[in-house]
Amino acid sequence: APIQVKKICCIGAGYVGGPTCAVIAAKCPHIQVTIVDLNKQRVDAWNSDDLPIYEPGLDEVVKGARGKNLFFSTDVDKGIAEADLIFVSVNTPTKKSGIGAGFAADLNYLQLATRRIAEVSTTSKIVVEKSTVPCKTAESMRTILEANSKPGCTFDILSNPEFLAEGTAIADLFAPDRVLIGSLQTQSGLDACAALSEVYANWVPRERILTVGLWSSELSKLAANAMLAQRISSINALSAICEATGANIDEVAFAVGKDSRVGPKFLKASVGFGGSCFQKDILNLVYLSESLHLPEVAKYWKAVVEMNEHQKSRFARKVVDTLFNTITGKKIAILGWAFKKDTGDTRESPSISIANHFLNEKARLSLYDPQVTEEQIWLDLTDYGAIPAEPIKPHVSIQKSAEEACKGAEAIVVCTEWDEFKNLDWEKIYENCPRPAFVFDGRLMLDRKKLQSIGFRVVTIGTADGY
Ligand code: UDX
Ligand code: UDX
Ligand code: ADP
Repeated sequence: APIQVKKICCIGAGYVGGPTCAVIAAKCPHIQVTIVDLNKQRVDAWNSDDLPIYEPGLDEVVKGARGKNLFFSTDVDKGIAEADLIFVSVNTPTKKSGIGAGFAADLNYLQLATRRIAEVSTTSKIVVEKSTVPCKTAESMRTILEANSKPGCTFDILSNPEFLAEGTAIADLFAPDRVLIGSLQTQSGLDACAALSEVYANWVPRERILTVGLWSSELSKLAANAMLAQRISSINALSAICEATGANIDEVAFAVGKDSRVGPKFLKASVGFGGSCFQKDILNLVYLSESLHLPEVAKYWKAVVEMNEHQKSRFARKVVDTLFNTITGKKIAILGWAFKKDTGDTRESPSISIANHFLNEKARLSLYDPQVTEEQIWLDLTDYGAIPAEPIKPHVSIQKSAEEACKGAEAIVVCTEWDEFKNLDWEKIYENCPRPAFVFDGRLMLDRKKLQSIGFRVVTIGTADGY
């Protein structure tokens, strides 16, 4: 019989660790799940009525299990010591300095957590790499654990990358397309893999639980994100051709997606992709390819990120061009700050690049997002304090509603596809805008004909300007 997992500890209570382990707790009442984090403020929030992340359905899951078999704590050592299986879901941002700066992942947090596991453990553990990491990370974790372990303690390392998307995390976790588990092909590696498979089998159909080697598992995660991002860069590259020719990108995407070999999903043209994963993972892949002396492969993947940068700046430039080549002193409303709808996460959000572009052109910005806090917007605008806030302060206002943000704006720029933007009182907004009033739809989500009939001039990604 496979090893029975009774106690799980998750190190890192972030966007990945929090929802993932909350769902495990909800689906496995017989397993005790403790999520630990060094950040006390975050742990306190997980223990409060006001969870630290916004995710549809998350409240119910957490509140249903918390205090029963789901616990949040800052006592990392105790969490580790008690567990038979430990998920490591700490942050692995792109390195800002040193070798591989701008490309390679910063594995410092991961290594610190791994060392802690080795130091604190007095019994054998299954250690599961959950954070998205470069290939071969599991191997270095194993080396750290073996070099620092106490006598009689053994560690089995698994790779179990998470494929949830923010905004749909709970639905994705409840019914994943697949669960991927990588292990060493030794007996103890396979046993550990079977133990984790049993945990998921509590709610995931067996045929969706894929077990592979460690390397394949680690590479599959980078590959999946790179190929998803590549679809968006492909459709966005085509959107530029549409704007110049009179073809319509939604029509093209629909026609292309009808080919069952291509498929209809993930073909929505946009201002560009954001989020904590796509860019980071592609840059990881680029760095890996270069390390393996495969410069052509590196160049191929790098182009996906470059096309995304191009899309963001192309859209921002289009706004300036359309407003008769200058936005100096003009009020511009940006609707949406999160990198996609239904999340408060702003990591790599295209809104940030676009706002910076407008600020460089000396525009006045009026911002609104239903889930992002004012504090977070300022962290993003100042690059977490790297840029002084004082010079930009007089040019930025953050509003509590879309209507308020749009008052007096010469251009309304939709950067995030929040549902509520569809149903705004656009007539009223129009009354409060100077003429001509422009709407720039960076998500192809608004009813163009309706806006035009009100009097707006409408510019969208991927269609020729007809206003
Ligand atoms: C992604 C992967 O989807 C997920 O499997 C992985 O675990 C983490 O990275 P996430 O970044 O949370 O998830 O959201 P996703 O829905 O993939 O969107 C990423 C970005 O692409 C967003 O900015 C989104 O707006 C954009 N996007 C997505 C498009 O511009 N067009 C599309 O058709 C789809
Ligand atoms: C292609 C398109 O599929 C078809 O819709 C269009 O009308 C004409 O171009 P074709 O070139 O006849 O059709 O064959 P296809 O099956 O697409 O294969 C093209 C090449 O890609 C072949 O060399 C094939 O071996 C290769 N291929 C295809 C792969 O290497 N891997 C794959 O997964 C699929
Ligand atoms: P992700 O999107 O990958 O989940 P987050 O940044 O949202 O990333 O979450 C990672 C969490 O991991 C943070 O809350 C951070 O405080 C926590 N963390 C980082 N290093 C450690 C560590 N050594 N021990 C415990 N928690 C850690």
